[in-house]
Amino acid sequence: MTQGETMSTATDVYYDPYDTDIDAEPHAVWRRMRDEAPVYRNDRYDFWALSRHADVDAASRDPRTFSSARGTTLELLSSGGEAPRMMIFIDPPEHSRLRVLFSRAFTPRRISALHEQIREECRTLLDPHVGSAGFDYVADFGAQLPSRVISALLGVSPTDQPRILDVINTMFHIEPGVGMINDTALNAMFELHTYLVDQLAERRAHPRDDMFSALVQAELTEDDGTTRRLDDQEAANFGVLLVSAGTETVARLIGWAGLALADFPDQRELLVADPGLIPNAVEELLRYEAPSPSQGRSLTRDVTLHGVTIPEGSKVLLLTGSAGRDERAFPNPDVLDVRRRIEAHLSFGLGAHYCLGAALARLEGRIALEETLRRFPRWDVDRAGAVRLHTSTVRGYKNLPIAV
Ligand code: HEM
Repeated sequence: MTQGETMSTATDVYYDPYDTDIDAEPHAVWRRMRDEAPVYRNDRYDFWALSRHADVDAASRDPRTFSSARGTTLELLSSGGEAPRMMIFIDPPEHSRLRVLFSRAFTPRRISALHEQIREECRTLLDPHVGSAGFDYVADFGAQLPSRVISALLGVSPTDQPRILDVINTMFHIEPGVGMINDTALNAMFELHTYLVDQLAERRAHPRDDMFSALVQAELTEDDGTTRRLDDQEAANFGVLLVSAGTETVARLIGWAGLALADFPDQRELLVADPGLIPNAVEELLRYEAPSPSQGRSLTRDVTLHGVTIPEGSKVLLLTGSAGRDERAFPNPDVLDVRRRIEAHLSFGLGAHYCLGAALARLEGRIALEETLRRFPRWDVDRAGAVRLHTSTVRGYKNLPIAV
């Protein structure tokens, strides 16, 4: 018996990301993992998990050991196939070249230009509910806002945007024990990819001031110093990553904000009284409920942690969602405290793959909360009507009816 097996049998704590009951309420399980099995082993699905803040932090900073090349979800890691050629699944040094290139397409100028548009979208989405009894804070608002924003950034037309949002929702469809690799989700990904290839071809012929056009003009510097344009597949893959990463995560953040601020009305009152606290509240909300709570990796060498050796080739889940609730890093972690000084939550990841859209996500989160609280200083959540979304990449609510 290896040390790893000793550790896993020394406790009866059980965790797997496909279990929708655990996904609904994971914090008690994650706490036990942090205390009893900081190097957790799941024999059923053949993976390991790190749950303490310090361990997730260190692993995220070491992409050469904790590789993303075989995928970052358990089902991709388990499929044995190649992960799609997307930046998020590519290790340094190749990753660094793509990252430099895509960061250029994703300029601060483009993000700050979205400022007014985000506010305008919030007005359009929230104003119709002023004076009403209530609305669905996620379906009517939280899910709509990021889809509209990312569509505008890329250059997806407003006519196509609702269909694209539908396709993304379908891409995130998971089936028990199989996860996101199922025909429904794969067909949706194919549809999105085809759409993006068509858009890119159109921009190649008729460039505009949008990210599709920037992508077809972008030049990648190779190892030998030569440059070349991205091919259609590379540019479309980046588009798929951006639309999916940019839509689903922010929708979950806004949903968690709707729930957590109803659960902690004193904190909501603080924000109404002093909107200057909202940027910090966004960080605290990200810590409190990480919209993307698990990042998968495969090990390129043996790693020994807390006396347990995880062998080379193992699948390891970095539980960002647990790291945010680690009492070793955050006092009273189960309490939402919008004035908490947060040194470093890991909810945008860390190191090479640190979220490329973090600035945009923060901007959307801040403006969404400002515009919500300005109109609706108080609300109650209809818990019976709330519906969870279970996916292997994001965690949160699909529907969150609120009474205002
Ligand atoms: C609250 C919202 C968001 C959260 C919680 C979030 C979370 C994350 C996390 C944890 C990672 C690291 C993944 C890993 O290490 O394997 C990541 C990467 C990434 N995110 Fe986000 N994200 C958010 C919003 C966005 C937005 C709005 C965009 C784009 C517009 C975006 C684009 C990306 C991209 C492209 C990467 C890959 C970066 C790389 O591989 O270098 N994200 N995100």
